[in-house]
Amino acid sequence: MTASAHVLEKEPALNTGAIGPAVRRLMVSRFRNYATLKLELGRAPVVLTGANGAGKTNLLEAVSFLAPGRGLRRARLGDIDRADSTTTAGATAWAISADVETAMGRTTIGTGRAPVSETGGDKRLVRIDGAPAKSQTVLGDYLAISWLTPQMDRLFVEGASQRRRFLDRLVYAFDPQHAGRMNGYTHALRERGRLLRQGRTDASWHHALEEQIATSGVAVAAARRELIDRLAPFAGAGHGPFPGAILSLDGEVESWLDDGPALDAEDRFRDALARARHVSAGEAAPVPGPHRGDLRVVHSIKNMPAGQCSTGEQKALLIAIVLAHARLRSRDLGDAPLLLLDEVAAHLDQERRTALYDILDTLGSQAWLTGTDKALFDAIADRAQHFTVHDGALTRH
Ligand SMILES: Nc1ncnc2c1ncn2[C@@H]1O[C@H](COP(=O)(O)OP(=O)(O)OP(=O)(O)O)[C@@H](O)[C@H]1O
Ligand SMILES: [Mg+2]
Repeated sequence: MTASAHVLEKEPALNTGAIGPAVRRLMVSRFRNYATLKLELGRAPVVLTGANGAGKTNLLEAVSFLAPGRGLRRARLGDIDRADSTTTAGATAWAISADVETAMGRTTIGTGRAPVSETGGDKRLVRIDGAPAKSQTVLGDYLAISWLTPQMDRLFVEGASQRRRFLDRLVYAFDPQHAGRMNGYTHALRERGRLLRQGRTDASWHHALEEQIATSGVAVAAARRELIDRLAPFAGAGHGPFPGAILSLDGEVESWLDDGPALDAEDRFRDALARARHVSAGEAAPVPGPHRGDLRVVHSIKNMPAGQCSTGEQKALLIAIVLAHARLRSRDLGDAPLLLLDEVAAHLDQERRTALYDILDTLGSQAWLTGTDKALFDAIADRAQHFTVHDGALTRH
């Protein structure tokens, strides 16, 4: 088993802005290509460089588990266990422990996959300062995490579901309960589809499900709408060389919320569901709802839909949205999210790269950046904690 330990000799310069979250100590075990890893960190940006396959994204993924959710790869928890020829699945559950500095002080967050024997399934356990937490949602009380990954490069050109997921993550950062709302909605919608496919017409069953779909669905749509309303002024303004992004939400239920109060939207939703039920016995007819909503983004200067912008422009728009969201959170809740920017620097020209580093300095939360080329980070060489990643081990320079 390889181990890599790193202790920072001197404290890097503190950010002068608001105090956002920073990982000050990170221990990872049996996590993908990391056997064990122990890092002591300051608050400055963490820069990870190394060859393809070294373990850069894996480490960002590990950090992403300090917030509620499925991590930045949305992986099955069992797939994260370090694969090696001597261990069997279930015997080598991965674990992470981190000391995180937040506006509330310093907290030790422990998380990992529960061994199958304990839970009978894929379950993530969370401990806060050593005490088991009832649910991972509690992590949202401590910090929020935003990320940009190369997989998100096609966000504006691919199907709406990716954009909905992106938008929902922006909502979670303000409202960790949003995940529960989403789950309740999707579950009820799926159940309804099942009943209809089975040709079951039991009115009380349908009625109960439709009630749940309408109330949770309107709550989801309202939470997304509210986030867009608050984010729009920040995103629309742009930051330095990052373009303004004009945001709007598309969707029928969403538009009903423009027409009147949420209770009216619920009534309309309930009616639409009931109508679809009668028309479509035996088959689940399409119904409106936040499962069909979409996030629309327009490049403010060019007045061009994001999907028609160049690759670099799309990347800049995404960055602009994530930075705007960080600023919004900072203004409203006092701390920006921890930022995980996987291979973001490589896509930017030098002016934008430098601007990004300057903006990160002002946010006050720790940023984690990766790239294969060290030269990309020359502009923050003296402001960052720089590590080379090689085969699941880190060396600091
Ligand atoms: N469960 C696992 N057990 C062991 N190794 C794994 C596991 N899952 C993924 N890996 C390996 O981890 C390695 C590092 O992956 P990672 O995505 O972190 O690389 P990277 O440094 O980000 O590379 P790139 O520059 O190509 O993005 C890959 O070779 C991958 O096969
Ligand atoms: Mg990677």
